[in-house]
Amino acid sequence: MGDAAELIMQHEVLRVLTIDLVQVARTIMTDGTGTLVSAAGRLAAALAEHQRLEDGVLAPMLLAGDRWSALRVSEMLAVHRQEHDDFLAALRLVSQHDEPSIDLEARVFELAAGIYRHMDREEVEYLNTRVVDAG
Ligand SMILES: [Fe+2]
Ligand SMILES: [Fe+2]
Repeated sequence: MGDAAELIMQHEVLRVLTIDLVQVARTIMTDGTGTLVSAAGRLAAALAEHQRLEDGVLAPMLLAGDRWSALRVSEMLAVHRQEHDDFLAALRLVSQHDEPSIDLEARVFELAAGIYRHMDREEVEYLNTRVVDAG
C-alpha cells in the first residue's frame, strides 16, 4: 500500500475515534468524565501515530509534486505540525478535567470539528489523486 493510501486509511480510523469522543462527550453530564478520558486517550494515541507517518511522507510528497516552492512547502508543514500539536494539547486538557461541564462538552465538539476540518483539507490539498500521482 502506498503511503498516501495508508494516510487516508488512518484518517478513517481517526474519524471513527473522533465520533466516539463526541458521543462520549454527550454523556458526561450524566455519566461523568471517566469514558471521556479513555476516548481522548485513544484518539491522542492514534493521532500521534498518524503524525509520525505524516511527518515522513508529506514533505517528499509535496516537493516531488513540484507544485509549490521549497519555502512554501516548509511553511505549509510548519502550520500543519502546529495544528497537530494543538490537537494533542487540547486532548490532554480534556483528559485532565475531572468535573463534567457544558463547557467541557462544547470544547470537545469544537476540537472534533477542528480535527475533521484538518483531515478534510488535507485530503483536498495533499492527498488528492493529482498530487499523489505527481509524486
Ligand atoms: Fe495532518
Ligand atoms: Fe492526516
